[in-house]
Amino acid sequence: MAGKTLNLTLRVWRQKGPKDQGGFVDLQAKNVSEDASFLEMLDAVNEELVGKGDEPIAFDHDCREGICGACGFVIDGEAHGPMKSTTVCQLHMRNFTDGATLTIEPFRAQAFPVIKDLMVNRSAMDRIISAGGYISQNAGNAVDANAILVPKADADEAMSSATCIQCGACVAACKNASAALFTSAKISHMALLPQGQVERKERAIRMVAAMDAEGFGACTTTGACEAACPKDIQLTNISRMNREFLVANATKREKHSDGGAG
Ligand code: SF4
Ligand code: FES
Repeated sequence: MAGKTLNLTLRVWRQKGPKDQGGFVDLQAKNVSEDASFLEMLDAVNEELVGKGDEPIAFDHDCREGICGACGFVIDGEAHGPMKSTTVCQLHMRNFTDGATLTIEPFRAQAFPVIKDLMVNRSAMDRIISAGGYISQNAGNAVDANAILVPKADADEAMSSATCIQCGACVAACKNASAALFTSAKISHMALLPQGQVERKERAIRMVAAMDAEGFGACTTTGACEAACPKDIQLTNISRMNREFLVANATKREKHSDGGAG
């Protein structure tokens, strides 16, 4: 038996390119299956647009399984839409009401310039990772799972921080456009594991500096990021990042010139 269908009005942000001013355009989404995902609904709208010779709505996507972090835009003021712990690719149309008008717009942040329509440039997050979100030693082949002992609580927290998919919803949800939740998840992940200890201080200093240099705002602990995060990354990561940064700055080694007395 066929499931229910919906008819919706979409107020979609259309912007031809980074320099275009952009604006909302009303489009109709008709006979949408309640079993379709939000992106499948947009695919159908795009097919109609292409059929009429119009430009399809540009949006980012890749895995459509909630694991890659490529998708993401704002639906009725909420990053990734109204469902908790859900990426927009995993959001289903059964969560919307027949006849509703949905406002769809890109993630807004100074550090995320619009490329086109709902697509934004999130390479600022890549540059934060490049500043220190890695372990630079060659660790060789994978070792047995328990060869390096890690306390269970630390392993659990590191795993939870590592689930950040770098989608940027935390930035879009924050009134300051802060990247603190994202950066802190990446810092925490490695600060909690033995392999991350060697570069721990330099990592915290470099990643926080990169975050600031990219134009993200300061964290004022409103918690909007945690509420919007599709992976339930916790605010406690931000406290840990602040601690890591303060300790790293207070205890960092001064550079000495070779052959000096000190
Ligand atoms: S912390 Fe959450 S919202 Fe922010 S980038 Fe990671 S997964 Fe996305
Ligand atoms: S497309 Fe990969 S998380 Fe949505």
